[in-house]
Amino acid sequence: MYYPDELIEEVRMRNDIIDVASSYIKLERKGRRYFALCPFHNEKSPSFSIEPSKQLFYCFGCNKGGSVIQFIMGIENLDFLEALRFLADRAGIVLPEPDDTKEKEKSILRKQILDINKEAARFFFSALAGKDGARAQAYLIKRGLIEKTLRQFGLGFAPRGWNDLTKILSKKGVKNELLLASGLSLQTKTGELVDRFRNRIMFPIFDIRGNIIGFGGRVIDDTQPKYMNSPDTLVYNKSRELYGLNYARQSKSKRLLIVEGYMDVISLHQAGIDYAVASLGTALTQSQAWILKKYAEEVIIAYDSDSAGQAATLRGLDVLEKAGCNVRVLLIPDGKDPDDYISNNGPEKFKNLVNGAISLLDYKIRVEKNMYNLDTIDDKLKLLNSIADILAAHDNSIERELYTKNYAQEYGISLESLNNEVQKRRNRQISRQKPYSYNKNMSPGRTFLEIPQIDTRFGELEHILLVMLCNENRLFDKVSKKYGLDAYIDKSAKKIAEKLYKRLEQNKTCVFAELLNVLEPKEASYLVRVAETNSGLENTDKALQQILNKLEILKLEDMQKQTIERIKNEEDGMIRQKLGLEFSKRAERIAELKRMA
Ligand code: CTP
Ligand code: MN
Repeated sequence: MYYPDELIEEVRMRNDIIDVASSYIKLERKGRRYFALCPFHNEKSPSFSIEPSKQLFYCFGCNKGGSVIQFIMGIENLDFLEALRFLADRAGIVLPEPDDTKEKEKSILRKQILDINKEAARFFFSALAGKDGARAQAYLIKRGLIEKTLRQFGLGFAPRGWNDLTKILSKKGVKNELLLASGLSLQTKTGELVDRFRNRIMFPIFDIRGNIIGFGGRVIDDTQPKYMNSPDTLVYNKSRELYGLNYARQSKSKRLLIVEGYMDVISLHQAGIDYAVASLGTALTQSQAWILKKYAEEVIIAYDSDSAGQAATLRGLDVLEKAGCNVRVLLIPDGKDPDDYISNNGPEKFKNLVNGAISLLDYKIRVEKNMYNLDTIDDKLKLLNSIADILAAHDNSIERELYTKNYAQEYGISLESLNNEVQKRRNRQISRQKPYSYNKNMSPGRTFLEIPQIDTRFGELEHILLVMLCNENRLFDKVSKKYGLDAYIDKSAKKIAEKLYKRLEQNKTCVFAELLNVLEPKEASYLVRVAETNSGLENTDKALQQILNKLEILKLEDMQKQTIERIKNEEDGMIRQKLGLEFSKRAERIAELKRMA
């Protein structure tokens, strides 16, 4: 590990899991626990819980569990070190630079890429102002952008030469390796480096701290492809970024408006709608949805209303819903994008569209409605069935009731019959939903939980032993005498035991959440699951003895098997007899242990 245990533990302790989690999910207190809909799998009733006194989370539905560290790893999609850094920042703890050389090299390279990106942005920016950029500048002005906006978003121009930027950066001493790693240069077949972006208007992509992490480049004419973008690099991961978030997160509005393109974000900000961000043409990802959820109380989708845009909207709605966002959909007339609409109709009209954005339910039903020709009875029935499906899937009962009334009226059917249809479907859903059914409805996308490989006979018992020992450190003397480190059969339990025994030997205490600090998410989940599903660990001395007995039985049974083999192969009668005696003594002991259990 790159950091000392004490430092990792300090980071954990200074981030209260309730504080951290409540910025992502809505927690409700019930007794000594808090409950919420699980952010790691799709569910309709809360099986995710946090126990503040233990600083642990656990989901009975998908079995994920851990401390605040594993929570952040999962929800922010970070690896251990990234999560630690995230939490350290949050608590104002300064972590020393990692001393692992590979990490160190990576972090140096990251910094270098950010530096040359900044250089590149400066170069593009002055090129736009210069002679070569005249056409590009005229184009942007024709599209309604004013100079202040160009400066705010750092727009620039990549000249048409083959290697203008590459040459300049090389002259400044930037190594080829770095030019390639940044994505600014490409290698030709002959091995020489050329500029990735040529003869394009350049849009720098900022992260929330204002670093330039990548670029998008647009042609000035109808050449294809219209946009060229930086590839994913050490500093840029397009599925995690939202263009414009660096400004939008400073907006006074508690909303975020999500659009498709660079130009949309820029014209919206210029028009005073300073809470727009773009997913940059790709389908909205779950990580982006988490980010939106983190920064906004309400998310409004404003994708193009053509059929591709509609499909993207529906997919986007799903991921946003899953992230627990309050979502509305903004409809732009005539298949326009927000930028077109503002250019033609002005900002005020667009603000009206924002205020008129419709709810998720209305949108889904509208999409259905467009699929049918409502002149035929058959189509009308199909639509009503879909409406009942959509209503039944909606969990908020007050909203469901209101909408049911509304749609019954709109389509001229009795409230009673629509209600019946909805209720029928809900009853079916509920009977299908078994509580605590594992692996069902689990989202496979996030690789956060797999069950680690656990020895089928010893694994669980050894983990239980560790949980007990961690809850009651005073048991250490007895446990270490009866079940020393060498006794562990299960690999994952042994790894945990090594850490725990070492601390307890040094007379240091160790709480359960601390024990999880350096475990992989799946190992942590397993250990928390063992702790959660084995009650009766309270009456500790007796429970401990039972676990030790069970483990002893397993060991003795293994020895019995070996003895049987040896007896079978032994030719010397005396030795056979001796082995037989051993066997029956052990059998007695096993019987005795079983009686005690
Ligand atoms: N996009 C891309 N590559 C393409 C086309 C689109 O990466 N070949 C991404 C860009 O991020 C673009 C977004 O998808 O901003 C939306 O595409 P589109 O609607 O075609 O472009 P606009 O942003 O509307 O650009 P403009 O108004 O200048 O045509
Ligand atoms: Mn556009």
